[in-house]
Amino acid sequence: MKELEILSGKPYKVYIDNDLDKLSKVLEEHKIKHKARFYLLTDDKVYELYKDKIEKFKDIFKVEIYYFNNGEKSKNYNTVKDIYSFLIEKNANRNSILIALGGGVVGDLGGFVASTYMRGIKYINIPTTLLSQVDSCIGGKVGYNFNGVKNIIGNFYNPEFVYISTNFLKTLDKKQFVDGLGEVIKYSLIKEGTMISYLRENSKGILERENDKMLYLVKNCLKIKKDIIEEDYKDLGIRNILNFGHTVGHGLEITSNGDLSHGEAVALGSLVALKLSEDILALDKGIYKEVEEVLNKLNLPTKHKVDNYKLFMYSINHDKKNDEDLNFVLLNKIGDPKIRTKVSKEQLYSALNNSINKGE
Ligand SMILES: NC(=O)c1ccc[n+]([C@@H]2O[C@H](COP(=O)([O-])OP(=O)(O)OC[C@H]3O[C@@H](n4cnc5c(N)ncnc54)[C@H](O)[C@@H]3O)[C@@H](O)[C@H]2O)c1
Repeated sequence: MKELEILSGKPYKVYIDNDLDKLSKVLEEHKIKHKARFYLLTDDKVYELYKDKIEKFKDIFKVEIYYFNNGEKSKNYNTVKDIYSFLIEKNANRNSILIALGGGVVGDLGGFVASTYMRGIKYINIPTTLLSQVDSCIGGKVGYNFNGVKNIIGNFYNPEFVYISTNFLKTLDKKQFVDGLGEVIKYSLIKEGTMISYLRENSKGILERENDKMLYLVKNCLKIKKDIIEEDYKDLGIRNILNFGHTVGHGLEITSNGDLSHGEAVALGSLVALKLSEDILALDKGIYKEVEEVLNKLNLPTKHKVDNYKLFMYSINHDKKNDEDLNFVLLNKIGDPKIRTKVSKEQLYSALNNSINKGE
């Protein structure tokens, strides 16, 4: 079992393994095995898939279980309220421990509830999607969507520990799995290293979700995120690097009407950001081709036509006047991102036409 220690805010460990067998031992290590009452939060899909495993938790500790409808649509105040009611009804107290078992939605909601219930109770994060294992399980950002604005209500709050079992990834839908790979691409570009060539050389094993490949991706992405959040936990500066590919990605996700998943949109957004980096920061032109090849190998899209430019510009630019420049995270070279790089509307359109729109 691999371990990472995260030193931003209250320190905590991330245990990375390919099964759940050592959870009991880790709980003992943290001296929270028998004393506490546990409240396990998950969604209906994860509950159905892992019912036996979840019910087996009852052999290890005293646990009450609550699950809500899966998906982003549940990431709202109604769900938060229902979880508070469940905790109160089941007599959760200051010594109780909440376990968030699921993807990023369960983790973000569980962490938020834990941060506010009785002014903060302990929680353990067990992420079960690729996106949550390589990204959202660390960094302390917890929260929910409100009035249609994503993650507008939230907090910074760290878990007691994170326990990752890459075996969970075996049951993900293909689309959901590939979705997580979009974020992996981002990590391979914002930090210098061998991840991009690893992705190219191991694409088959990755798509087959082989354990050693999954462990490599999780460990390496989390190490990169760890360094960034340790430097800028509260997201006041360089943490913005984590938005690489996300500005255009967000616009594409919104205008595609559900055709593109978040990860697919981030992959496409990364290509546009690379083209802008060539134009504005003189990034080596070979990198675009290399990344395009990796995306193809990983079943991620490389072409997409934007057909509603008005909505596209609004969704990436809504807090600015129309003639103001946009701020992008671009790359001087792999592993050397430049935050808040000014990009004009004309530069963006030109980059779109010379990258993902080209030939469409
Ligand atoms: N806190 C952060 O730093 C951070 C970072 C990135 C993203 N996020 C948030 O993460 C969320 C997206 O995460 P997500 O994609 O994991 O979403 P999710 O939690 O909705 O999970 C996606 C789907 O996968 C299913 N699922 C979960 N585990 C499964 C498994 N092992 N097998 C089969 N199906 C499984 C879920 O039921 C759901 O239908 C967004 O709300 C986003 O805002 C947070």
